[in-house]
Amino acid sequence: MQNSSCLRLASRMNALEPSATLAMAARAQALAAAGADVVDLSVGEPDFPTPAHICRAAEAAIAAGKTKYTPAAGIPDLRKAVAADFTRRTGLPATPAQVVVSNGAKHSLHNAFTALLDAGDEVIVPTPYWVSYAELIKLAGAKPVLIETKIEDDFKLRPEALQAALTPRTRMLLLCSPSNPTGVVYSAAELTALADIAIEADIAVVADEIYDQLVFDGRPEISFPTLRPGLADRTVVVAGVSKTYSMTGWRIGWTIAPEPLSKAIANLQSQETSNPCSVSQHAALAALTGPQECVAEMRREFQQRRDLVAGRLRAMPGVQLPEIGGAFYAFFDIRTPLARSAARGIATSLQWCEALLEHEKVALVAGSAFGAEGHVRMSFAASTEKLTQGLDRIERFLTG
Ligand SMILES: Cc1ncc(COP(=O)(O)O)c(C=O)c1O
Repeated sequence: MQNSSCLRLASRMNALEPSATLAMAARAQALAAAGADVVDLSVGEPDFPTPAHICRAAEAAIAAGKTKYTPAAGIPDLRKAVAADFTRRTGLPATPAQVVVSNGAKHSLHNAFTALLDAGDEVIVPTPYWVSYAELIKLAGAKPVLIETKIEDDFKLRPEALQAALTPRTRMLLLCSPSNPTGVVYSAAELTALADIAIEADIAVVADEIYDQLVFDGRPEISFPTLRPGLADRTVVVAGVSKTYSMTGWRIGWTIAPEPLSKAIANLQSQETSNPCSVSQHAALAALTGPQECVAEMRREFQQRRDLVAGRLRAMPGVQLPEIGGAFYAFFDIRTPLARSAARGIATSLQWCEALLEHEKVALVAGSAFGAEGHVRMSFAASTEKLTQGLDRIERFLTG
């Protein structure tokens, strides 16, 4: 069947790229469904089940008939719990009115961009960046300004680079720490240097803190608006339960923003989607207010896997890796192996990932999807056994 001409796509769809991470996961799943022994290290979701007490809270919510519309910005108890949890962890005051609960952090990002950006506004996005940022910014009619960071700087945006990227159209800086795709964590001093430039230039900051509690080696959790007095007035914090509590399918994320902006985001959401799933909201409430040992356990497990993955990758020929301080990704430099394999027609990170999937049945995501050609992303949200199997195959592919 074909689109009739009356179904021609709106021009905003022209520039929209499909999510490369979801596309790679779909290819790996299709191969596995066809019987191949695939090690899928492409996906960015914890492999642990959602903790039982959270699932039980959802069951109780269904049994109690909490299956109807809720206020568009979320049930009051959850907004209150998000604000209280944020204050407990960061020391910053936050009110429930500053919180809008949405259908996952991706939706929260979309809300923030839609509420704040006009056509032609520029948003500074350090690369490598999470795949959806640039597309969501473009959908809002604005322009992502991609600033390359270097592996020698642990893929961190340097203050001079931020300063140099500012123009009269710059409206916003987007930061993600701990980072997807690199796993890199900024220090307080590094973030403060960026904050000072944002204050001086009078621009907004969207701080994607979805991996905030997944930090390793005893690093402190750092929330961007804590770094300077008044910084909260120009910052939208985006976070949620997806990664921290292994709740990716429940679709609950949120923004924490100054009240007038929160009100605007709530209005937008009331027209676009209404409330996020009522049952999921009750599950998220249980996540935030229930026992937190599950978070510490997952963090410990991810740190052990980080040790395994970083150690093995660093020992592979021609592979370079930044310091992985959090999240569950290894973003490694394969420019040396690519230079060697170019003659065999494997010259780009996408070609390398395709060849790896074809020959060794390991699914990774090409760095080009994150604005960093010459690199690949491996998720270590998989069992030690799967990781070891995947690493053995990657090593064989690199040395073969
Ligand atoms: C950096 C980053 N931000 C936001 C999201 C979206 O999270 P959610 O699944 O809650 O929409 C992800 C998910 O992969 C992510 O890695």
